Amino acid sequence: MSTHPIPFTPDLAVKPEVVAFFDEPTNTISYIVKDPNSNACAVIDSVMDFDYASGNIAYDGADKIIGHIRANGWTLEWLIETHVHADHLSAAPHIQSKLGGKLGIGDQICVVQDTFGKIFNEGTEFQRNGSQFDRLFKDGDSYQIGTMTAHTLFTPGHTPADMVHVIGDAVFVGDTLFMPDGGSARADFPGGDARTLYQSIQRLLTLPGEMRLFMCHDYGPNGRDIQWETTVAEERDHNIHVGHGTSEDEFVKMREERDSTLSMPKLIIPSLQVNMRAGQLPPPEDDGKTYLKVPINGLNTSKDQ
Ligand SMILES: [Fe+2]
Repeated sequence: MSTHPIPFTPDLAVKPEVVAFFDEPTNTISYIVKDPNSNACAVIDSVMDFDYASGNIAYDGADKIIGHIRANGWTLEWLIETHVHADHLSAAPHIQSKLGGKLGIGDQICVVQDTFGKIFNEGTEFQRNGSQFDRLFKDGDSYQIGTMTAHTLFTPGHTPADMVHVIGDAVFVGDTLFMPDGGSARADFPGGDARTLYQSIQRLLTLPGEMRLFMCHDYGPNGRDIQWETTVAEERDHNIHVGHGTSEDEFVKMREERDSTLSMPKLIIPSLQVNMRAGQLPPPEDDGKTYLKVPINGLNTSKDQ
């Protein structure tokens, strides 16, 4: 069961406006979270358009988010990354360059930067202290979005640096959970751990049952339409991986067996190199152009060992 209690009291009277943007190529949902009592908002988990085959990048998806914020006269105060994503590239620096705001991630980003700094043989100019971000969150930290107080919950397991953000009655779970019929995210990336993920999920499920949960991904299991919103109570009762009192050992066995069958996400190699730099591309080389690396047999996961 949960070992660490929730270190704050959620304020369910605060009901932020949540606008979702679905990125079809990566099945990612980005959010604008807007304070009902001011013009302030935050953007959670934005997506850069990246065509691996051509090496071309674009910002059509991120520009829709920017357009929505501008059209409503809102002020962007925060850009949040729930974790270092392995399946899409962040557009946070692009949005920040247009609208301002501070970029935040969990402080365990340093562990992720250390791991992937080695895997990609980054030189000493690649800082592994999280300094590319404006704010590094610890468990139970808080920050303001206008009149709303947002709280962070450290929820490792999928990666070592996942943070869930609790804003009024809305909870942005990142990849800690999927919709009830989707279950949970994989825990086999470097630094991931199924047992740790189970404990993080159990902690999350001690939040009040009526709280709204917003997913970072949905794959429309069994042919259903894409969905991204559920509640704590729905997850407790119906989640196919952790609901109905599934034990830790049952979960770990299921998760590890399932992960051993999954291939790597298509964009993991470019995603990690960009997202560990807070969404910035690597510095240009001596010809002034920017390159990404492919480490041959370098991305060892539990599947390969
Ligand atoms: Fe993820």
